[in-house]
Amino acid sequence: MNASLQLALLLLTLGSSRGLQPDLWDDFEEPVEAERVVAASRFGSLWPLPQKVKISDVSLLLSGLTFRIADGKGSSSGASCSLLQNAYRRYYEYIFGHSKRQPEVESFPAGPSVVTELQVLITSADSECEGFPGVTSDESYELTVDQPYAVLKAPKVWGALRGLETFSQLVYEDEFGAKSINSTTISDFPRFAHRGILLDTSRHFLPIKVILANLETMAMNKFNVFHWHIVDDPSFPYMSRTFPHLSQQGAYHPYTHVYTPSDVKMVIEFGRLRGIRVVPEFDTPGHTQSWGKGQKDLLTPCYSGDKPSGTFGPVNPILNTTYDFMSKFFKEIGTVFPDAYVHLGGDEVDFNCWKSNPDIQKFMAQQGFGQDFSKLESFYIQKLLDIVATTQKGYMIWQEVFDNGVKLKPDTVVHVWIGGGANEEMGKVTAAGFTTILSAPWYLDYISYAQDWQKYYKVEPLDFKGTEEQKKLVIGGEACLWGEYVDATNLTPRLWPRASAVAERLWSAADVTDINDAFSRLSAHRCRMVERGIPAEPLFSSYCPREYRGI
Ligand SMILES: *[C@@H]1O[C@H](CO)[C@@H](O)[C@H](O)[C@H]1NC(C)=O
Repeated sequence: MNASLQLALLLLTLGSSRGLQPDLWDDFEEPVEAERVVAASRFGSLWPLPQKVKISDVSLLLSGLTFRIADGKGSSSGASCSLLQNAYRRYYEYIFGHSKRQPEVESFPAGPSVVTELQVLITSADSECEGFPGVTSDESYELTVDQPYAVLKAPKVWGALRGLETFSQLVYEDEFGAKSINSTTISDFPRFAHRGILLDTSRHFLPIKVILANLETMAMNKFNVFHWHIVDDPSFPYMSRTFPHLSQQGAYHPYTHVYTPSDVKMVIEFGRLRGIRVVPEFDTPGHTQSWGKGQKDLLTPCYSGDKPSGTFGPVNPILNTTYDFMSKFFKEIGTVFPDAYVHLGGDEVDFNCWKSNPDIQKFMAQQGFGQDFSKLESFYIQKLLDIVATTQKGYMIWQEVFDNGVKLKPDTVVHVWIGGGANEEMGKVTAAGFTTILSAPWYLDYISYAQDWQKYYKVEPLDFKGTEEQKKLVIGGEACLWGEYVDATNLTPRLWPRASAVAERLWSAADVTDINDAFSRLSAHRCRMVERGIPAEPLFSSYCPREYRGI
Protein backbone atom coordinates (compact mmCIF):
# COMPACT_ATOMS: atom_id res chain seq x y z
CA MET A 1 0.00 0.00 0.00
CA ASN A 2 1.48 3.36 -0.89
CA ALA A 3 1.85 6.07 1.72
CA SER A 4 -0.87 8.38 0.48
CA LEU A 5 -3.45 5.62 0.21
CA GLN A 6 -2.56 4.54 3.72
CA LEU A 7 -3.00 8.11 4.85
CA ALA A 8 -6.34 8.40 3.14
CA LEU A 9 -7.60 5.21 4.78
CA LEU A 10 -6.43 6.29 8.19
CA LEU A 11 -8.05 9.67 7.82
CA LEU A 12 -11.23 8.02 6.72
CA THR A 13 -11.31 5.92 9.88
CA LEU A 14 -10.38 8.83 12.08
CA GLY A 15 -12.62 11.29 10.32
CA SER A 16 -15.71 9.19 10.74
CA SER A 17 -15.11 8.18 14.33
CA ARG A 18 -16.80 9.98 17.15
CA GLY A 19 -14.42 11.58 19.58
CA LEU A 20 -11.85 8.96 18.57
CA GLN A 21 -13.24 6.39 21.01
CA PRO A 22 -16.25 4.93 19.26
CA ASP A 23 -16.31 1.70 21.27
CA LEU A 24 -16.57 3.58 24.55
CA TRP A 25 -19.70 5.27 23.33
CA ASP A 26 -21.70 2.10 23.29
CA ASP A 27 -21.43 1.93 27.07
CA PHE A 28 -23.04 5.30 27.62
CA GLU A 29 -26.55 5.12 28.95
CA GLU A 30 -29.27 7.63 28.38
CA PRO A 31 -30.12 9.67 31.47
CA VAL A 32 -33.15 8.11 33.12
CA GLU A 33 -34.64 11.22 34.59
CA ALA A 34 -34.35 14.21 32.35
CA GLU A 35 -34.85 16.73 35.17
CA ARG A 36 -31.65 15.55 36.81
CA VAL A 37 -29.74 16.99 33.89
CA VAL A 38 -28.06 20.26 34.86
CA ALA A 39 -29.64 23.30 33.28
CA ALA A 40 -26.37 24.54 31.86
CA SER A 41 -26.03 21.57 29.58
CA ARG A 42 -29.71 21.28 28.68
CA PHE A 43 -29.63 24.56 26.84
CA GLY A 44 -26.97 25.00 24.22
CA SER A 45 -24.02 26.48 26.01
CA LEU A 46 -21.42 28.21 23.90
CA TRP A 47 -17.65 28.16 24.37
CA PRO A 48 -15.82 30.29 23.37
CA LEU A 49 -18.59 32.88 23.34
CA PRO A 50 -19.28 34.25 19.84
CA GLN A 51 -18.83 37.98 19.14
CA LYS A 52 -22.55 38.58 18.60
CA VAL A 53 -25.18 36.09 19.64
CA LYS A 54 -28.92 36.26 20.06
CA ILE A 55 -30.66 33.10 21.24
CA SER A 56 -34.46 33.28 21.31
CA ASP A 57 -36.90 31.31 23.45
CA VAL A 58 -38.28 29.57 20.38
CA SER A 59 -37.25 25.96 20.69
CA LEU A 60 -37.06 23.86 17.51
CA LEU A 61 -36.55 20.13 17.03
CA LEU A 62 -33.91 18.29 15.05
CA SER A 63 -34.69 14.86 13.71
CA GLY A 64 -31.80 12.44 13.41
CA LEU A 65 -33.57 10.70 10.54
CA THR A 66 -34.32 13.70 8.39
CA PHE A 67 -31.79 16.26 9.52
CA ARG A 68 -28.83 16.79 7.26
CA ILE A 69 -25.88 19.10 6.92
CA ALA A 70 -25.21 19.97 3.29
CA ASP A 71 -23.81 22.55 0.91
CA GLY A 72 -26.29 25.38 0.47
CA LYS A 73 -27.50 26.31 -3.02
CA GLY A 74 -25.04 28.62 -4.75
CA SER A 75 -22.22 27.77 -2.38
CA SER A 76 -18.90 28.22 -4.10
CA SER A 77 -17.31 25.19 -2.46
CA GLY A 78 -19.34 22.36 -3.96
CA ALA A 79 -19.70 18.74 -2.95
CA SER A 80 -16.14 18.11 -4.07
CA CYS A 81 -14.81 19.91 -1.01
CA SER A 82 -13.70 16.92 1.03
CA LEU A 83 -12.76 19.14 3.97
CA LEU A 84 -16.39 20.20 4.36
CA GLN A 85 -17.84 16.75 3.64
CA ASN A 86 -15.58 15.38 6.32
CA ALA A 87 -16.69 18.09 8.76
CA TYR A 88 -20.40 17.49 8.00
CA ARG A 89 -20.00 13.83 8.92
CA ARG A 90 -18.05 14.67 12.06
CA TYR A 91 -20.58 17.17 13.33
CA TYR A 92 -23.57 15.02 12.45
CA GLU A 93 -21.99 12.34 14.65
CA TYR A 94 -21.36 14.81 17.45
CA ILE A 95 -24.96 16.00 17.35
CA PHE A 96 -26.71 12.64 17.08
CA GLY A 97 -24.05 10.11 17.99
CA HIS A 98 -25.26 9.03 21.39
CA SER A 99 -29.00 9.13 20.73
CA LYS A 100 -29.10 6.36 18.14
CA ARG A 101 -31.11 4.22 20.53
CA GLN A 102 -34.01 6.64 20.62
CA PRO A 103 -36.10 5.69 17.59
CA GLU A 104 -39.29 7.11 19.08
CA VAL A 105 -37.97 10.65 19.16
CA GLU A 106 -36.39 10.28 15.75
CA SER A 107 -39.58 9.38 13.96
CA PHE A 108 -41.56 12.53 14.57
CA PRO A 109 -42.93 14.06 11.38
CA ALA A 110 -41.53 17.23 9.84
CA GLY A 111 -43.59 20.17 11.04
CA PRO A 112 -43.42 23.84 11.66
CA SER A 113 -41.09 23.49 14.64
CA VAL A 114 -38.55 21.20 13.00
CA VAL A 115 -35.15 22.12 11.58
CA THR A 116 -34.53 19.73 8.72
CA GLU A 117 -31.28 21.01 7.34
CA LEU A 118 -28.18 23.04 8.06
CA GLN A 119 -27.21 24.67 4.79
CA VAL A 120 -23.57 25.64 4.56
CA LEU A 121 -22.83 28.44 2.16
CA ILE A 122 -19.32 29.45 1.21
CA THR A 123 -19.59 32.99 -0.10
CA SER A 124 -16.09 33.57 -1.47
CA ALA A 125 -15.12 32.29 -4.90
CA ASP A 126 -11.86 30.84 -3.64
CA SER A 127 -12.99 28.73 -0.71
CA GLU A 128 -9.47 27.43 0.08
CA CYS A 129 -10.90 23.94 0.41
CA GLU A 130 -7.74 22.24 -0.78
CA GLY A 131 -5.38 24.64 0.94
CA PHE A 132 -3.83 25.05 4.33
CA PRO A 133 -4.93 27.50 6.98
CA GLY A 134 -2.58 30.40 7.67
CA VAL A 135 -2.24 33.37 9.97
CA THR A 136 -4.38 35.54 7.67
CA SER A 137 -7.13 32.94 7.11
CA ASP A 138 -10.66 34.26 7.40
CA GLU A 139 -12.47 32.37 10.19
CA SER A 140 -15.59 34.53 10.31
CA TYR A 141 -19.08 33.13 9.84
CA GLU A 142 -22.73 33.93 10.26
CA LEU A 143 -25.24 31.45 11.56
CA THR A 144 -29.01 31.70 11.47
CA VAL A 145 -31.01 28.93 13.06
CA ASP A 146 -34.64 28.92 12.02
CA GLN A 147 -37.17 26.47 10.61
CA PRO A 148 -37.15 24.69 8.31
CA TYR A 149 -33.52 25.57 7.57
CA ALA A 150 -30.53 26.74 9.50
CA VAL A 151 -28.04 28.62 7.37
CA LEU A 152 -24.30 28.91 7.97
CA LYS A 153 -22.57 31.50 5.79
CA ALA A 154 -18.83 31.92 5.67
CA PRO A 155 -16.45 33.51 3.17
CA LYS A 156 -14.00 30.63 3.54
CA VAL A 157 -14.11 27.00 4.67
CA TRP A 158 -12.22 27.98 7.84
CA GLY A 159 -15.16 30.04 9.04
CA ALA A 160 -17.55 27.23 8.11
CA LEU A 161 -15.58 24.86 10.38
CA ARG A 162 -15.89 27.30 13.29
CA GLY A 163 -19.59 27.78 12.58
CA LEU A 164 -20.25 24.03 12.50
CA GLU A 165 -18.71 23.74 15.95
CA THR A 166 -20.93 26.58 17.19
CA PHE A 167 -24.03 24.98 15.65
CA SER A 168 -23.24 21.68 17.36
CA GLN A 169 -22.87 23.51 20.68
CA LEU A 170 -26.34 25.06 20.34
CA VAL A 171 -28.01 21.65 20.22
CA TYR A 172 -29.40 20.34 23.50
CA GLU A 173 -31.80 17.66 24.63
CA ASP A 174 -35.26 18.64 25.75
CA GLU A 175 -36.94 16.98 28.73
CA PHE A 176 -37.97 14.01 26.59
CA GLY A 177 -34.46 13.54 25.25
CA ALA A 178 -35.24 15.00 21.84
CA LYS A 179 -32.53 17.02 20.12
CA SER A 180 -33.50 20.65 20.20
CA ILE A 181 -32.07 23.98 19.16
CA ASN A 182 -33.38 27.48 19.76
CA SER A 183 -33.91 29.89 16.96
CA THR A 184 -30.66 31.87 16.99
CA THR A 185 -28.61 34.42 15.08
CA ILE A 186 -24.86 34.58 15.47
CA SER A 187 -22.20 36.69 13.81
CA ASP A 188 -18.74 35.64 14.79
CA PHE A 189 -15.01 36.07 14.18
CA PRO A 190 -11.90 35.61 16.31
CA ARG A 191 -10.41 38.50 18.28
CA PHE A 192 -6.88 37.15 17.68
CA ALA A 193 -5.60 35.30 14.61
CA HIS A 194 -3.06 33.07 16.39
CA ARG A 195 -4.59 30.81 19.04
CA GLY A 196 -2.24 28.00 19.84
CA ILE A 197 -1.44 24.98 21.97
CA LEU A 198 2.15 23.88 22.51
CA LEU A 199 2.72 20.17 23.08
CA ASP A 200 6.17 18.81 23.88
CA THR A 201 6.99 15.41 22.37
CA SER A 202 10.62 15.29 23.46
CA ARG A 203 10.46 15.04 27.25
CA HIS A 204 7.88 12.32 26.78
CA PHE A 205 6.93 10.69 23.51
CA LEU A 206 3.27 11.22 22.72
CA PRO A 207 1.58 8.55 20.58
CA ILE A 208 -0.02 9.91 17.41
CA LYS A 209 -3.46 8.97 18.76
CA VAL A 210 -2.99 11.38 21.67
CA ILE A 211 -1.85 14.18 19.39
CA LEU A 212 -4.88 13.68 17.12
CA ALA A 213 -7.30 13.57 20.07
CA ASN A 214 -5.92 16.91 21.18
CA LEU A 215 -6.21 18.41 17.70
CA GLU A 216 -9.83 17.29 17.78
CA THR A 217 -10.31 18.96 21.16
CA MET A 218 -8.55 22.10 19.91
CA ALA A 219 -11.18 22.35 17.18
CA MET A 220 -13.93 22.10 19.83
CA ASN A 221 -12.32 25.16 21.43
CA LYS A 222 -11.61 27.00 18.16
CA PHE A 223 -7.84 26.86 18.61
CA ASN A 224 -6.05 27.11 15.27
CA VAL A 225 -2.32 26.53 15.83
CA PHE A 226 -0.61 23.35 16.97
CA HIS A 227 2.87 24.43 18.07
CA TRP A 228 4.69 21.11 17.90
CA HIS A 229 7.72 21.30 20.19
CA ILE A 230 8.86 18.13 18.56
CA VAL A 231 12.49 17.74 19.72
CA ASP A 232 14.54 18.96 22.69
CA ASP A 233 17.36 17.76 25.00
CA PRO A 234 15.82 14.45 26.15
CA SER A 235 14.86 12.92 22.79
CA PHE A 236 14.68 13.46 19.04
CA PRO A 237 11.57 11.63 17.80
CA TYR A 238 11.36 13.44 14.43
CA MET A 239 12.45 11.02 11.72
CA SER A 240 14.45 13.02 9.20
CA ARG A 241 14.79 11.73 5.65
CA THR A 242 18.04 13.65 5.17
CA PHE A 243 19.57 12.74 8.53
CA PRO A 244 18.02 9.44 9.69
CA HIS A 245 20.69 9.09 12.39
CA LEU A 246 19.14 11.92 14.36
CA SER A 247 16.16 9.81 15.42
CA GLN A 248 17.97 6.46 15.16
CA GLN A 249 20.38 7.64 17.86
CA GLY A 250 18.45 10.48 19.48
CA ALA A 251 14.92 9.07 19.96
CA TYR A 252 14.02 7.15 23.11
CA HIS A 253 13.56 4.18 20.78
CA PRO A 254 14.41 4.19 17.07
CA TYR A 255 11.24 2.37 15.93
CA THR A 256 8.54 2.79 18.55
CA HIS A 257 9.23 6.34 19.76
CA VAL A 258 9.55 8.21 16.48
CA TYR A 259 7.34 10.24 14.14
CA THR A 260 7.76 8.83 10.65
CA PRO A 261 7.20 11.00 7.58
CA SER A 262 3.72 9.49 7.22
CA ASP A 263 2.93 10.17 10.90
CA VAL A 264 3.85 13.80 10.40
CA LYS A 265 1.75 13.95 7.23
CA MET A 266 -1.19 12.52 9.09
CA VAL A 267 -0.94 15.10 11.88
CA ILE A 268 -0.75 17.91 9.32
CA GLU A 269 -3.76 16.65 7.35
CA PHE A 270 -5.82 15.95 10.47
CA GLY A 271 -5.08 19.52 11.57
CA ARG A 272 -5.87 21.00 8.15
CA LEU A 273 -9.29 19.33 8.13
CA ARG A 274 -9.99 21.18 11.37
CA GLY A 275 -8.50 24.51 10.34
CA ILE A 276 -5.44 24.00 12.51
CA ARG A 277 -1.94 25.01 11.43
CA VAL A 278 0.98 22.81 12.44
CA VAL A 279 4.01 24.93 13.35
CA PRO A 280 6.99 22.74 14.22
CA GLU A 281 9.69 23.95 16.58
CA PHE A 282 13.31 22.96 16.12
CA ASP A 283 14.95 24.78 18.99
CA THR A 284 18.68 25.60 18.72
CA PRO A 285 21.44 26.30 19.76
CA GLY A 286 20.43 25.22 23.30
CA HIS A 287 18.05 22.35 24.10
CA THR A 288 19.90 20.15 21.60
CA GLN A 289 21.50 17.31 23.61
CA SER A 290 19.53 14.69 21.67
CA TRP A 291 20.70 16.13 18.31
CA GLY A 292 24.31 15.42 19.26
CA LYS A 293 23.77 11.68 19.50
CA GLY A 294 23.16 11.20 15.79
CA GLN A 295 25.12 14.13 14.37
CA LYS A 296 28.82 14.06 15.14
CA ASP A 297 30.56 17.41 15.80
CA LEU A 298 27.28 19.32 15.89
CA LEU A 299 27.50 20.16 19.60
CA THR A 300 30.28 22.03 21.40
CA PRO A 301 32.68 19.77 23.39
CA CYS A 302 32.89 21.08 26.96
CA TYR A 303 36.26 21.23 28.68
CA SER A 304 37.33 20.49 32.20
CA GLY A 305 40.62 22.35 32.64
CA ASP A 306 42.51 21.83 29.39
CA LYS A 307 40.89 18.51 28.46
CA PRO A 308 37.51 17.72 26.88
CA SER A 309 35.27 16.50 29.69
CA GLY A 310 33.28 14.15 27.46
CA THR A 311 30.12 16.22 27.79
CA PHE A 312 28.63 18.54 25.20
CA GLY A 313 27.00 21.96 25.26
CA PRO A 314 24.93 23.97 22.76
CA VAL A 315 25.36 23.69 18.98
CA ASN A 316 28.92 24.56 17.98
CA PRO A 317 28.64 27.99 16.35
CA ILE A 318 32.20 28.24 15.05
CA LEU A 319 32.24 25.38 12.52
CA ASN A 320 31.17 25.65 8.87
CA THR A 321 29.88 22.07 9.08
CA THR A 322 27.25 23.27 11.56
CA TYR A 323 25.79 25.64 8.98
CA ASP A 324 25.96 23.08 6.18
CA PHE A 325 23.97 20.74 8.38
CA MET A 326 21.41 23.40 9.32
CA SER A 327 20.93 24.36 5.65
CA LYS A 328 20.13 20.81 4.63
CA PHE A 329 18.04 20.12 7.71
CA PHE A 330 15.83 23.19 7.42
CA LYS A 331 15.48 22.67 3.68
CA GLU A 332 13.83 19.37 4.55
CA ILE A 333 11.67 20.97 7.24
CA GLY A 334 10.56 23.54 4.68
CA THR A 335 9.24 20.81 2.40
CA VAL A 336 7.73 18.56 5.11
CA PHE A 337 5.74 21.24 6.95
CA PRO A 338 3.50 23.35 4.72
CA ASP A 339 2.94 26.19 7.21
CA ALA A 340 4.53 29.53 6.33
CA TYR A 341 6.20 29.59 9.73
CA VAL A 342 8.71 27.48 11.61
CA HIS A 343 9.60 28.09 15.26
CA LEU A 344 13.36 28.31 15.76
CA GLY A 345 13.46 28.44 19.54
CA GLY A 346 16.58 30.25 20.72
CA ASP A 347 15.73 30.17 24.44
CA GLU A 348 17.78 29.38 27.53
CA VAL A 349 21.28 29.01 26.09
CA ASP A 350 23.75 27.94 28.78
CA PHE A 351 27.12 29.65 28.16
CA ASN A 352 29.28 27.58 30.56
CA CYS A 353 30.32 24.99 27.99
CA TRP A 354 31.16 27.62 25.38
CA LYS A 355 33.23 29.42 28.05
CA SER A 356 35.19 26.27 28.85
CA ASN A 357 36.16 25.51 25.26
CA PRO A 358 39.52 26.99 24.11
CA ASP A 359 38.59 26.99 20.39
CA ILE A 360 35.44 28.96 21.16
CA GLN A 361 37.48 31.37 23.29
CA LYS A 362 39.90 31.89 20.40
CA PHE A 363 36.99 32.57 18.04
CA MET A 364 35.48 35.03 20.51
CA ALA A 365 38.77 36.95 20.59
CA GLN A 366 39.03 36.97 16.77
CA GLN A 367 35.52 38.32 16.44
CA GLY A 368 36.11 40.92 19.16
CA PHE A 369 33.21 39.58 21.27
CA GLY A 370 35.22 39.90 24.53
CA GLN A 371 33.53 37.67 27.10
CA ASP A 372 30.01 38.53 25.95
CA PHE A 373 28.65 35.14 24.98
CA SER A 374 25.26 36.53 24.03
CA LYS A 375 27.17 38.03 21.06
CA LEU A 376 28.24 34.53 20.06
CA GLU A 377 24.68 33.31 20.45
CA SER A 378 23.50 36.16 18.24
CA PHE A 379 26.21 35.33 15.71
CA TYR A 380 24.84 31.80 15.47
CA ILE A 381 21.17 32.78 15.38
CA GLN A 382 21.85 35.42 12.74
CA LYS A 383 23.40 32.84 10.44
CA LEU A 384 20.58 30.40 11.14
CA LEU A 385 17.89 32.99 10.40
CA ASP A 386 19.58 33.82 7.10
CA ILE A 387 19.59 30.13 6.21
CA VAL A 388 15.93 29.66 7.07
CA ALA A 389 14.96 32.83 5.20
CA THR A 390 16.21 31.13 2.01
CA THR A 391 13.69 28.28 2.55
CA GLN A 392 10.81 30.74 2.01
CA LYS A 393 9.70 30.39 5.60
CA GLY A 394 8.87 32.98 8.14
CA TYR A 395 10.08 32.25 11.61
CA MET A 396 8.93 32.48 15.17
CA ILE A 397 11.48 32.78 17.96
CA TRP A 398 11.43 32.87 21.75
CA GLN A 399 11.87 36.33 23.24
CA GLU A 400 15.59 36.03 24.14
CA VAL A 401 16.54 36.25 20.47
CA PHE A 402 14.86 39.65 20.28
CA ASP A 403 16.25 40.69 23.68
CA ASN A 404 19.79 39.96 22.46
CA GLY A 405 19.38 42.36 19.58
CA VAL A 406 19.59 39.85 16.74
CA LYS A 407 18.55 41.38 13.42
CA LEU A 408 15.14 39.92 12.55
CA LYS A 409 13.07 39.84 9.36
CA PRO A 410 10.12 42.24 9.62
CA ASP A 411 7.59 39.36 9.58
CA THR A 412 9.21 37.58 12.56
CA VAL A 413 6.87 36.54 15.36
CA VAL A 414 8.42 37.06 18.81
CA HIS A 415 7.11 34.61 21.39
CA VAL A 416 6.95 36.10 24.90
CA TRP A 417 7.28 33.49 27.62
CA ILE A 418 9.18 34.93 30.59
CA GLY A 419 6.64 35.50 33.37
CA GLY A 420 7.88 38.54 35.25
CA GLY A 421 7.71 41.64 33.05
CA ALA A 422 5.82 39.96 30.21
CA ASN A 423 3.72 43.10 29.74
CA GLU A 424 6.80 45.28 29.54
CA GLU A 425 8.31 42.85 27.04
CA MET A 426 5.17 42.99 24.85
CA GLY A 427 5.57 46.77 24.89
CA LYS A 428 9.21 46.56 23.81
CA VAL A 429 8.69 43.99 21.09
CA THR A 430 5.78 45.85 19.53
CA ALA A 431 7.54 49.22 19.86
CA ALA A 432 10.27 47.69 17.70
CA GLY A 433 7.58 46.89 15.13
CA PHE A 434 7.44 43.09 15.50
CA THR A 435 4.38 40.93 15.75
CA THR A 436 4.17 38.99 18.97
CA ILE A 437 2.31 36.20 20.71
CA LEU A 438 1.91 35.73 24.45
CA SER A 439 2.52 32.58 26.47
CA ALA A 440 4.01 33.85 29.76
CA PRO A 441 0.75 33.62 31.78
CA TRP A 442 -0.31 30.37 30.11
CA TYR A 443 2.24 27.74 31.14
CA LEU A 444 -0.27 25.01 31.85
CA ASP A 445 2.40 22.54 32.99
CA TYR A 446 2.35 24.45 36.30
CA ILE A 447 -0.48 22.99 38.32
CA SER A 448 -2.02 24.13 41.58
CA TYR A 449 -5.00 23.39 43.80
CA ALA A 450 -8.44 24.86 42.99
CA GLN A 451 -9.73 26.66 39.92
CA ASP A 452 -6.60 27.89 38.23
CA TRP A 453 -8.47 28.24 34.92
CA GLN A 454 -9.73 31.56 36.32
CA LYS A 455 -6.18 32.89 36.48
CA TYR A 456 -5.69 32.07 32.79
CA TYR A 457 -9.10 33.48 31.96
CA LYS A 458 -8.44 36.84 33.59
CA VAL A 459 -5.33 37.59 31.50
CA GLU A 460 -5.71 40.51 29.09
CA PRO A 461 -3.09 40.19 26.33
CA LEU A 462 -3.26 43.89 25.44
CA ASP A 463 -2.71 45.05 29.00
CA PHE A 464 0.58 46.84 28.38
CA LYS A 465 1.64 50.43 27.70
CA GLY A 466 1.63 51.07 24.00
CA THR A 467 -0.11 52.77 21.08
CA GLU A 468 -3.03 51.36 19.10
CA GLU A 469 -0.57 50.48 16.35
CA GLN A 470 1.49 48.47 18.83
CA LYS A 471 -1.55 46.58 20.10
CA LYS A 472 -2.39 45.52 16.55
CA LEU A 473 0.94 43.69 16.47
CA VAL A 474 -0.26 41.27 19.15
CA ILE A 475 -1.61 38.48 16.99
CA GLY A 476 -2.52 36.08 19.79
CA GLY A 477 -1.06 33.60 22.20
CA GLU A 478 -0.42 30.00 23.06
CA ALA A 479 -1.12 27.76 26.03
CA CYS A 480 2.01 25.66 26.65
CA LEU A 481 2.02 22.19 28.13
CA TRP A 482 5.67 21.27 28.65
CA GLY A 483 6.29 17.58 28.98
CA GLU A 484 8.49 16.94 32.04
CA TYR A 485 5.58 15.53 34.03
CA VAL A 486 3.19 14.80 31.20
CA ASP A 487 2.69 11.85 28.89
CA ALA A 488 -0.22 10.01 27.31
CA THR A 489 -1.54 8.99 30.76
CA ASN A 490 -2.28 12.50 31.98
CA LEU A 491 -1.92 14.95 29.11
CA THR A 492 -5.53 15.35 28.05
CA PRO A 493 -7.12 15.92 31.49
CA ARG A 494 -4.29 18.26 32.44
CA LEU A 495 -4.78 20.35 29.33
CA TRP A 496 -8.59 20.43 29.17
CA PRO A 497 -10.56 22.37 30.18
CA ARG A 498 -7.76 24.60 31.54
CA ALA A 499 -6.70 25.50 28.00
CA SER A 500 -10.33 26.28 27.19
CA ALA A 501 -9.97 29.39 29.38
CA VAL A 502 -7.19 30.56 27.06
CA ALA A 503 -9.33 29.66 24.04
CA GLU A 504 -12.09 32.05 25.07
CA ARG A 505 -9.65 34.82 25.97
CA LEU A 506 -8.17 34.63 22.49
CA TRP A 507 -11.41 34.19 20.54
CA SER A 508 -14.10 36.22 22.32
CA ALA A 509 -14.48 39.99 22.68
CA ALA A 510 -12.27 41.75 25.24
CA ASP A 511 -15.25 42.55 27.47
CA VAL A 512 -16.27 38.90 27.91
CA THR A 513 -14.92 38.70 31.46
CA ASP A 514 -17.85 37.65 33.70
CA ILE A 515 -16.31 34.82 35.72
CA ASN A 516 -19.65 33.39 36.94
CA ASP A 517 -21.09 33.22 33.46
CA ALA A 518 -17.81 31.71 32.28
CA PHE A 519 -18.00 29.09 35.03
CA SER A 520 -21.44 27.86 34.05
CA ARG A 521 -20.68 27.83 30.32
CA LEU A 522 -17.30 26.18 30.85
CA SER A 523 -18.82 23.51 33.12
CA ALA A 524 -21.25 22.64 30.35
CA HIS A 525 -18.50 22.77 27.73
CA ARG A 526 -16.39 20.43 29.82
CA CYS A 527 -19.28 17.95 30.01
CA ARG A 528 -19.65 18.26 26.24
CA MET A 529 -15.96 17.38 25.76
CA VAL A 530 -16.46 14.40 28.07
CA GLU A 531 -19.52 13.31 26.08
CA ARG A 532 -17.43 13.48 22.95
CA GLY A 533 -14.96 11.03 24.46
CA ILE A 534 -12.36 13.51 25.76
CA PRO A 535 -11.29 12.95 29.39
CA ALA A 536 -11.34 16.64 30.36
CA GLU A 537 -10.99 17.13 34.12
CA PRO A 538 -13.76 18.70 36.24
CA LEU A 539 -13.75 22.36 37.30
CA PHE A 540 -15.38 21.77 40.68
CA SER A 541 -17.93 19.53 42.45
CA SER A 542 -20.52 18.73 39.80
CA TYR A 543 -21.84 16.01 37.56
CA CYS A 544 -22.35 15.51 33.86
CA PRO A 545 -25.46 14.01 32.22
CA ARG A 546 -23.15 11.39 30.75
CA GLU A 547 -20.08 10.80 32.83
CA TYR A 548 -16.77 9.67 31.40
CA ARG A 549 -16.46 5.90 31.51
CA GLY A 550 -12.88 5.87 30.41
CA ILE A 551 -11.46 2.53 31.49
C1 LIG B 1 -34.21 28.13 24.58
O1 LIG B 1 -35.57 28.02 24.66
C2 LIG B 1 -36.06 27.50 25.87
C3 LIG B 1 -37.54 27.19 25.71
O2 LIG B 1 -38.25 28.34 25.35
C4 LIG B 1 -35.76 28.50 26.97
O3 LIG B 1 -36.24 28.03 28.21
C5 LIG B 1 -34.25 28.69 27.04
O4 LIG B 1 -33.89 29.67 27.98
C6 LIG B 1 -33.69 29.08 25.67
N1 LIG B 1 -32.26 29.01 25.72
C7 LIG B 1 -31.48 30.07 25.68
C8 LIG B 1 -30.01 29.81 25.79
O5 LIG B 1 -31.90 31.19 25.56
